[in-house]
Amino acid sequence: TASPIVLGIESSCDETGAGLVRDGRLLGHAIASSMDEHVRYGGVVPEIAARAHVHALTPVVRRALDTAGLRLGDIGAVAVTTGPGLSGALQVGLAGAKSLAYALDVPLYGVHHLAGHVAADTLEHGPLPDPCVVLIVSGGHTSLLLVRDLARDPIAHLGDTLDDAAGECLDKVARVFGLPYPGGPAVDRAARDGSARAVAFPRPLTGLGDDPYAFSFSGLKTAAARWAEGHADGELPVADGAAALQEAIADVLTRKAVAACAAHGVDTLVVVGGVAANSRVRALAEERCRAAGITLRVPPLGLCTDNGAMIAAVGDLLVRAGAEPAPLDVSIDPSAPL
Ligand code: KG4
Ligand code: ZN
Repeated sequence: TASPIVLGIESSCDETGAGLVRDGRLLGHAIASSMDEHVRYGGVVPEIAARAHVHALTPVVRRALDTAGLRLGDIGAVAVTTGPGLSGALQVGLAGAKSLAYALDVPLYGVHHLAGHVAADTLEHGPLPDPCVVLIVSGGHTSLLLVRDLARDPIAHLGDTLDDAAGECLDKVARVFGLPYPGGPAVDRAARDGSARAVAFPRPLTGLGDDPYAFSFSGLKTAAARWAEGHADGELPVADGAAALQEAIADVLTRKAVAACAAHGVDTLVVVGGVAANSRVRALAEERCRAAGITLRVPPLGLCTDNGAMIAAVGDLLVRAGAEPAPLDVSIDPSAPL
């Protein structure tokens, strides 16, 4: 008999996502973003994000069902992000998920946001090999993980950022460079016309010391800001700065990810999160993985950034592993450790 259709709900930051997954297959998904409402503040405003989720959640679930050609009654389980993330934003998704699970009389599963990012890749490339190394790089996270079985084993952290996430560094430096928010895609575009060799930015923590897979991007952010301030108005070579910044980030990320694979005897690297969309990160990861005999997996761009399909993917794994559902009084965990 087929497993139940799992509805996944994501609302940890500024994206409201709903996705439907059964037996590892994506049936349909929909996303609404409050990004436009945050642009003039230069970053996500928690209160605005929470309110936008209230507005968007039900229509997004409706749209996900429509794209899949399904009805509410077809849902056999509900999975929802419980953390980490913005607490008000998480509350909205959880309240919605609980209501649906209660009304439909189906089990509810709480999902860790990072497990969702990892599982996104399975919707395109099938089950993950056990073990694999995952590099998760987004606006909120920069971590190297050792993943065995998402439904059964806890994910092991090999290293995390000690300060800024890579995406946060891109977003903040982009602002200093006069590029629009969100900075990551803007830096990627600007870099096409620049030369990465034009500026020598630091490669933080690449000496493999005590904590070889830890990251630090705040020094790079400061170095890039200082370099920008050293130019007169209108004379900043933005394209060169963008190319050099992107090169420094891609170099550090891929060097450590490949080293982690080698150290753990792992032959598959999965790169997920918004910064996995970066053209230089993708190209350098491909080049270095090929040279090291490592298989590289990167989810399609639309599943790299926050979405509901990835939460449904984890829910589907939990259902099929026979995991215990969450009680209806389960709480959010905004600073959930992994
Ligand atoms: O995964 P995501 O959508 O949300 C979080 O969980 O944070 O990642 C968003 C981050 C932002 O910092 C954004 O600037 C960055 O991903 N990003 C990129 C690109 N597209 C998005 N960074 C570099 N190059 C890109 N093409
Ligand atoms: Zn995320």
